[in-house]
Amino acid sequence: MGNYNFFVRGKRWAKFFINYCGERLRGLDFSMLYVSDLQKHTDEYHGYSMTDGDDMKRMLRAVPVDPSRSAFLDVGCGKGMCMKCASELGYHTVAGLDLDDYLLGIARRNMARLKLNADCIQASAVEFDGYAAYDVFYFYNPFGKSVFQQVIRKLLESQYKRDREIWVVYYHPVYGELFQQAGFRLADEKKDRTRDTVARYYHLPRKEDALL
Ligand SMILES: C[S@@+](CC[C@H](N)C(=O)[O-])C[C@H]1O[C@@H](n2cnc3c(N)ncnc32)[C@H](O)[C@@H]1O
Repeated sequence: MGNYNFFVRGKRWAKFFINYCGERLRGLDFSMLYVSDLQKHTDEYHGYSMTDGDDMKRMLRAVPVDPSRSAFLDVGCGKGMCMKCASELGYHTVAGLDLDDYLLGIARRNMARLKLNADCIQASAVEFDGYAAYDVFYFYNPFGKSVFQQVIRKLLESQYKRDREIWVVYYHPVYGELFQQAGFRLADEKKDRTRDTVARYYHLPRKEDALL
């Protein structure tokens, strides 16, 4: 993800700086500054980095659901930028979960400041038991292969609790093949060649429809 050109990089830094100052003035904090030991990358735990708000909205607009009838969950939500975007696009339920309590504290403050009704859940994605309540899931490369396998299994199991279509938006899809191996269909892939980023869209039909 790091080989886009100098001009694009400069523009992104300028945007980061302007956003950072704007956020501080409004009492918000989505910035990607170093925060805690937990934020160190390991094979299975990938630390905080933020999805750009405009990119997130573009990605969510490409999901073929009616947001006003859909529930969104950011798996590994960090400071909550994606919850903010999903709320602004009109999702009727918005939530995020994260392992890191420190980040979640900031996410909660951000949501309160913006007067958004988004549930910030402190949980490991592997232990979390509430996937059945959501339809659209967002992953920004939050963890490694073995965690992903367990989380995908939980998504599949959640269809037994509530049979519904599942959409996954996977940004920087390092382990994308795991979704296909689990029976998801790769519905779309969007590449931003200027920035060298990729988002994949995976779809799992309702169990009832899959049997037809
Ligand atoms: C790359 S950041 C993405 C943050 C946010 N989704 C965004 O795009 O702005 C990945 C997040 O996943 C969280 N994370 C990593 N492993 C996790 C796990 N097993 N359960 C829950 N959250 C996890 C990290 O704490 C980090 O905040």
